[in-house]
Amino acid sequence: MARMSIFERWLVKSPIRAWLQRREVRAFARWAALPPEASVLDMGCGPGVSTALILDTLRPQRLAAFDFDPSMVDLARRRLARHLHEHDLDLTVADATRMPYGDDLFDAVFESGVVHHIPDWRATLREVGRVLKPGGHFCFAEPSRGRLRRGMYRILPHAVESMFAPEEWRATLAEAGLEVEEPLHRLPLWDICGVATKRG
Ligand SMILES: C[S@@+](CC[C@H](N)C(=O)[O-])C[C@H]1O[C@@H](n2cnc3c(N)ncnc32)[C@H](O)[C@@H]1O
Repeated sequence: MARMSIFERWLVKSPIRAWLQRREVRAFARWAALPPEASVLDMGCGPGVSTALILDTLRPQRLAAFDFDPSMVDLARRRLARHLHEHDLDLTVADATRMPYGDDLFDAVFESGVVHHIPDWRATLREVGRVLKPGGHFCFAEPSRGRLRRGMYRILPHAVESMFAPEEWRATLAEAGLEVEEPLHRLPLWDICGVATKRG
């Protein structure tokens, strides 16, 4: 499993990233209409900034968040400590290619900047398709292979196998039973952004 460089770990914990995540969670809230009493998954939650924003903005009835890196999950637990007893909130260390959740469980899965770190990214998208309820939404924000080869991304190491083009992303979502709403969007760091819905 690819590990992030020290610089990228610092970036993920920085106030700039937190500011950008606020915009991302607001965009996700616009793109995906959630039912009342929604069950939501924050995949690759990092230090839990997105998890806290999802809790505040969307107020799901159940929120699960996980990351592969135990030190990130520790940070998320500390950030969300006061919510852990008040809400149905589950924070855990897990691998996105083998999620520890049952089938058809979540109304929405959110992720930003996670899948392009995972060499078996296709297995991750299959897992998203498995854990979503029929009609559930997958909100994503990722950099394409093209973007990872330009600008500031060139100083951040990424495995060739974990990169994808927008058309590969769309095709793999379709194979996982997820229909992409067109057109894809753009957010400041990401050029593959949008929502895909699990076929009922
Ligand atoms: C660039 S950070 C993004 C973190 C957070 N989503 C954000 O937007 O700031 C990528 C995150 O993906 C996590 N990650 C990498 N591979 C993973 C895997 N196989 N399963 C779960 N999380 C993974 C890393 O530990 C890291 O926290």
